[in-house]
Amino acid sequence: MKLVEEKIKAEGKALDSQVLKVDSFMNHQVDPKFMKQIGDAFAKAFHGKRITKILTLESSGIAPAVMTGLVLGVPVLFGRKKTSLTLQNGLLSAEVYSFTKQESSTISVSAEYLQQTDVVLIIDDFLANGQAALGLLDICRQAGAEVAGIGAVIEKVFQDGGRKLREQGVMVESLAKITALEEGEVFFEEEVKA
Ligand code: G4P
Repeated sequence: MKLVEEKIKAEGKALDSQVLKVDSFMNHQVDPKFMKQIGDAFAKAFHGKRITKILTLESSGIAPAVMTGLVLGVPVLFGRKKTSLTLQNGLLSAEVYSFTKQESSTISVSAEYLQQTDVVLIIDDFLANGQAALGLLDICRQAGAEVAGIGAVIEKVFQDGGRKLREQGVMVESLAKITALEEGEVFFEEEVKA
């Protein structure tokens, strides 16, 4: 999808061979108009899948997930990285290891909001090593919910998260695919038809 590629070309910055900074529109400041277009694109990509719920992980997944939920007219649930005062009973949890941060965290979702009857679309900002998506998939399986697919705004295809997920038979749609990063340069895979 050209939209995301153009936005990265205009505002993104490759910090090194691993990390793309997109703080101006997704990871710190959020561009709402752009995010609405992201929501439209995911809704189109997963059209006809009878989705009943969007699932994401705090914090940067929330903006694209909410916009997708808005377009599809379904609720948006976000996994928490820390349990809150109100989130105590009936938790579905998974361990997520971040290669980027080299730390493990437990992500949790209340079983109250994720049920066997749900058809879930998992949305995230980045798909890198796929640990977050695998954790969210695990939580859906614990709930007995069906997973319609995974939507990532940006996939770094030189990391193996996308491959691992597709090998499990999960439908993965990424709006921009980055094949390589070099300091100050971003290389894209050919346009993905949404
Ligand atoms: P994974 O979930 O695909 O395995 O990714 P990984 O452990 O490598 O990433 C951990 C965190 O780093 C995630 O955010 C992920 O979105 C983010 N990340 C991965 N690659 C990049 C990148 O190239 N650029 C930026 N800006 N972020 C990247 P998080 O810790 O959950 O943070 P947040 O959602 O609270 O912002």
